[in-house]
Order: sequence, then C-alpha cells, then structure tokens
Amino acid sequence: MKAFVAGATGATGSKIVNQLVGRGVPVVAFVRDAAAARDKLPIEVTLKEGSVTDKESIRKAMDQVRSSTNEGCTVLLSATGARPGFDPTGPYQVDYEGNKNLIDVAKETGIEHFVMVSSLCASRFFHPLNLFFLILYWKHQAEAYLQASGLTYTIVRPGGLKDDDADTRTLVMAPADTLSEGSVTRQKVAEVCVEALYLPQSRNKIVEIVAQDNANPQPYEAMFAGVA
Ligand SMILES: NC(=O)c1ccc[n+]([C@@H]2O[C@H](COP(=O)([O-])OP(=O)(O)OC[C@H]3O[C@@H](n4cnc5c(N)ncnc54)[C@H](OP(=O)(O)O)[C@@H]3O)[C@@H](O)[C@H]2O)c1
Repeated sequence: MKAFVAGATGATGSKIVNQLVGRGVPVVAFVRDAAAARDKLPIEVTLKEGSVTDKESIRKAMDQVRSSTNEGCTVLLSATGARPGFDPTGPYQVDYEGNKNLIDVAKETGIEHFVMVSSLCASRFFHPLNLFFLILYWKHQAEAYLQASGLTYTIVRPGGLKDDDADTRTLVMAPADTLSEGSVTRQKVAEVCVEALYLPQSRNKIVEIVAQDNANPQPYEAMFAGVA
C-alpha cells in the first residue's frame, strides 16, 4: 500500500498521515506549501506541491511518484476542506471541484481505494451549515461523484470535530442519513479513515460517525459490517 493524502496539513489530515506512517505505510502528502508542510509532517513523508483545484498538479504529483519509485500510489485519502473565510466559491472549489479532480486522477492512475472525509448531514440542503456558501451541498455533490465513479470508496461523515485527547466516549458508526447531531475527535476520524483501507467491510459505504457516552464499544470490522 502507498497512500496519497490530500489535505495532509489539516487538523484531520495530519492525524491520518501520522497513523499511516505509524503503520509503516509510505505516504505522499499533497500540499499547497511544501515548506510549511515540512514542519508539520513526519520526515519520512514525501511532499508534493499543488492544489486540488488544479487537476494537472495532482496528475503531475502522481506521475512524479510513479516515475521516481517505479510504484504509484494505491490508495487516496481526501481530508481537504475549504478554510472558513470570505470567499463564496471556497466550498464549491475545494469541497466539490477539488474532490472531483482527485477522483478523476484516482481513476486515471488506478487507485484501489478512495477515502473521503465528508460531513454529517451532507444530504440535508436545509441545514444551517449551508449558510457557509453551501458547504454541505457541495460535499454531497462530491460524494455522489465518487459513488458514480466506479472507484472503490469509503465516505466518512463525522459529526462536529474536536481535538480533545481526554475524550473517552465510544465511537458509534451508522449508515448514511441516520445521525443528525454529535461530535467526534479528529483522532477517531483519522482512525476510521485508515482502518477502512484494511477492512473489506468498509468498501463502497457511507459511514456516519460520532462519539457517545454509554455506547457499546465494537471492533472496527463489526462497525463497518453493521453499515448496510
Ligand atoms: N469542523 C467540523 O466540525 C467538521 C465537521 C464535519 C466535517 N468536517 C470536514 O472534515 C474535513 C477535515 O476538517 P479539518 O477541520 O480537519 O480540516 P482543516 O484543518 O481545515 O484542513 C483543511 C485541509 O484542506 C487543505 N486545502 C484547502 N484548500 C486546498 C486546496 N485548494 N488544495 C489542497 N489542499 C487544500 C488545507 O491545506 P492548507 O494547510 O494549505 O490550508 C488543509 O490541509 C473537512 O472536509 C471539513 O469540512 C468538519
């Protein structure tokens, strides 16, 4: 397995990278600013610079990896997201077009498994989060594009993201459009994304995740298998 991670400098993406590195998986981090990324990511990670909004830069990164090591990336994880700001095209450009570009290049280059971080409530148009320039709407369009792509995929829809290492609540996984509220740590989101690569039960599924008190802990295999 060799992983291409988009959004690798992000709060969730960097945790995904750390987990992959911890498992000995070679990682190519696709970043907008390699110098800034070098300080954030483990030294063994290969950095490729580009933007998800520029499909050619993704192609170039994939090609460079293949030609320099004779082995292309086999899995792709996308934890990109428009940074909150005043650009009304951000969610369209990053969450939709950006993921669409990644999916297109993943198809061209024979990626075997595409994991996308989306969001709880992605399919709800009348949701307050869509006041941020239709962010959920564009994530949902990207999900649909991935599902129609023919790629093997896992779409992870987390609840509100937290960075609380002391959070001991149990992870709960549910099928698409069943959870509407809750939160989960980015650490757990990263774990789910990485576990998905190893478990056939995760393939071609949308999983919604939150953490809850008093839930029964289950192994990842059983959680993925429990999602239709
Ligand atoms: N916040 C929440 O409560 C919540 C809840 C559910 C789902 N989500 C979703 O979960 C995902 C991860 O969230 P997060 O808070 O961990 O993310 P984050 O820290 O905001 O990181 C976003 C990542 O996307 C990258 N990015 C943005 N535009 C890009 C571009 N044009 N080309 C390449 N990379 C680009 C950023 O790169 P730079 O470092 O260069 O900016 C960064 O690495 C996002 O999709 C988010 O929408 C968030």
